[in-house]
Amino acid sequence: MRQQIVAGNWKMNNDLSQTESLISELKNIKKTSNAEVMVAPTFTNLLTAVKALKTVDIEVIAQNMHFAENGAYTGEISAAMLKSVGINTVILGHSERRAYFNETDDMLAKKVDAALANNMRVIFCFGEELADRKSGNHEHIVESQIKNALFHLDASAFKNIVLAYEPVWAIGTGETASPEQAQDMHAFIRKTLSNKYGNALANSVSILYGGSVKPNNAQEIFSKPDVDGGLIGGAALNATDFFAIVNAF
Ligand code: PGA
Repeated sequence: MRQQIVAGNWKMNNDLSQTESLISELKNIKKTSNAEVMVAPTFTNLLTAVKALKTVDIEVIAQNMHFAENGAYTGEISAAMLKSVGINTVILGHSERRAYFNETDDMLAKKVDAALANNMRVIFCFGEELADRKSGNHEHIVESQIKNALFHLDASAFKNIVLAYEPVWAIGTGETASPEQAQDMHAFIRKTLSNKYGNALANSVSILYGGSVKPNNAQEIFSKPDVDGGLIGGAALNATDFFAIVNAF
C-alpha cells in the first residue's frame, strides 16, 4: 500500500503571527485518515513551525532550496541550513519556481541530488501548461520533466521521492483537472516510471495531485487508484478546509 500524503504549500503567505495562529488551529483538529500530513511555511517561519508542531503528527517541510552546499548565493538557502532547523523534506520544481524564477530541469536535477545527498525527502513537482493540454502534448511534457530531472537517479533513491503532478492551468485558478484527467496522467506517470525502473518501484512511489483541490472535490480525486494524495495551495491556508481535505481519504 502506497503512503497517502496531503501537503499544504503556504507559498508566500502568513507572517510569523499568522503562522502561529494557523498552526494552533491545525493542532486542534482531529485527523481521521491515515494520510501523512505536511505543511510548508515560508523560510522565516520554519523554525517556529517545527517547534510548534513537535508534539503532533504534522511534518514541517520547505518550499524550495538551493543546490549548492554553501557559498556566494545571496538570498538562497541550502539543504544543510534546512536540516539544521529540523526540516527533512523539500518541495522542488513547483511551477511558480519554474515560471517566475527560471528553474530549469537541469537546475532541478542538481537540487534533487543535493536534497538526497543530505538525506532529505523530495516532493518533486511538474505539470503541463494549458497550451500543452490543448495541443495534446501534455504527456510528452510531463514525461520529459520527469526524465530530465530524475532519471539519472538509482532506483534506491526513489524511496525518498514523492511526485506531485500539478497541471499549471489548474493551480490557483479554481479549475481542477477532472478526477479522470488526474487518474489518466497519474497512470501515465507510473507507466513512465515502470518503463525505466520496473513495476515494483513504480507501484511504490506516491504520486500527489495538485491544482485547486478543495474540500468539495478532494474525495473524488483521492478515490482514483493512482492518486495518492494532494499538494494543496489556497485551501491549505484555512485549517478547517485543509483538514477536510486530509480527512477526505
Ligand atoms: P492551489 O495550489 O491549490 O491553490 O491551486 C496548488 C499548488 O500550487 O501546489
